[in-house]
Amino acid sequence: MKKSPEELIGEIVYLTKHHDLWRKYECINLIASENVMSPVAERLYLNDMMHRYAEGLPFKRYYQGHKYLDEVEVRAQKIISVLFDADHVDLRPLSGTIANLAVFVAFLENGDKVAALDVPAGAHVSHTIHGALGLRGVEVLQLPFDRERMNIDEDKAVKIIEKEQPKMVILGASLFLFPHPIKEISDAAKSYGGLVVYDAAHVLGLIAGGQFQQPFREGASIVTSSTHKTFPGPQGGVVMAAENVEFERVQKAIFPRLVCNHHIHRLPALAQTAWEMWKYGEAYARQTIKNAKKLAERLAEFGFRVLGEPYGYTESHQVVIDVREYGGGKINAEKLEENNIIANKNMIPGDETNAETMKNPSGIRIGTQEMTRWGCKESDMEVIAEFIHRVIVKDENVRDDVVEFRKSFREVHYC
Ligand SMILES: Cc1ncc(COP(=O)(O)O)c(C=O)c1O
Repeated sequence: MKKSPEELIGEIVYLTKHHDLWRKYECINLIASENVMSPVAERLYLNDMMHRYAEGLPFKRYYQGHKYLDEVEVRAQKIISVLFDADHVDLRPLSGTIANLAVFVAFLENGDKVAALDVPAGAHVSHTIHGALGLRGVEVLQLPFDRERMNIDEDKAVKIIEKEQPKMVILGASLFLFPHPIKEISDAAKSYGGLVVYDAAHVLGLIAGGQFQQPFREGASIVTSSTHKTFPGPQGGVVMAAENVEFERVQKAIFPRLVCNHHIHRLPALAQTAWEMWKYGEAYARQTIKNAKKLAERLAEFGFRVLGEPYGYTESHQVVIDVREYGGGKINAEKLEENNIIANKNMIPGDETNAETMKNPSGIRIGTQEMTRWGCKESDMEVIAEFIHRVIVKDENVRDDVVEFRKSFREVHYC
C-alpha cells in the first residue's frame, strides 16, 4: 500500500534525526571532502536570507530588499580575499563544480586545448570531458603523472605545455597527497599567455592555515574551490583570481549564465568560518596534516600498502591505501561503514577508467580533517588505524568500540 504524505514526513523527520545522531556522534568520519561547521557558523547559517533573491552583484541587484545582505556579501568577500591573497573574489557559485564551470564558460571555447590530470591520477570529474569541462567542447591533454611520487611529472608536463600551448592548465585534485608544481607549470603557461587554474577544493583549509602551497604566490591566475572540505564552511563554491585576470568574464558567467539566486544565507556562516580559519586555521591545518601522517605511518605498520610511501605518505589531509589484496575499494568501504567508519572507495593511479573499476576501484581514500576538528590528535589516529586494520584485515566487528571512541570527541575545535 502507498504511504500517505503524513506517514512519509513522519519517517523523514525520524530519519533526519537519526542521520544527525549517527554521523555527528557515533561515526568516525573520514570522507576527505567533508567537514563540520562551528556551532556559531551553524547558528548563523539559519537566517532570513535563505528566503531571498539577490541576482547580480552587491549594490547592483535586480530586486529590492538587500540593504543588509549586500553589506554582508562585500564583507565576506573581503575576509576571503585577505585570507587567500586574492585580488578578485566571487562567492556566488553554489558548489566547486559550478565554480569550475564558471571559469570554463568564461575563458574556453569550442576546440580550445586544456591540460588536466585524469581521474585515476586524482582529477575531479569536473576537470574531464565526462564532467563540466566536457560541456565546452575542448580537447583535453593529459598531464603526465609520476605514480611513485604521487605527483605531476613536472618535466614532462612542462614539455607538453610548451609544445601544445593549451589555453588552460588545471591543477589541484580530488586525490591530492602532495603540492602540485604550480610554479614550473605557470612559468611555462604564462610564456605564451596560458591560464593556470588551481582547483583548491580539497586543500582550501590547509591553504588558509598556511600549511599547504599558496597558489597565487606560486603563480596560479585563478583559484576555484568548494567551501566545505578542509575549509570547514557551509556547502558552496568560490572563484578567486589574481589582479590581471579579466574577472568580469567570470562574474558574467556566474550570473546570468549559471546561478540566479546564490543561496545567500550561507554567506554569514562562510564569513564566520573564514574568520575562524584566520584565527585558528594554522593550528587546525598543522594538526590535520600531522594526523594524516601518523595515520598513514600506522596503517603502513599494520601492513597496508599506503600510497606515497617513499615521500612520507602525505603532505595533506589525505591518506590513500591500496586494498586490492583485500578485495578492492568497494567491499572494504562497505565493511568500514558497517562499523561506523565512513570513508570512500577511490580510483588510484594505474586503475583503468572502465565501468568495472569505477564500481570497485583499488583504493580507499581517507581524510583526517573532520576528526581533527572533533579534537583527535596523533594518538587517536593510532586507534583509528587499529580499527581499520581489525575491520579490513581481521574481519572483526569494531562498531561498539567506535561508538565508545566517539564519546570523547563531541565538540568542534579550532573555533
Ligand atoms: C578537486 C575538486 N574540485 C571540485 C569538486 C566539486 O565540488 P562540489 O562537490 O562542491 O561541486 C570536488 C569534489 O569533491 C573536488 O574534489
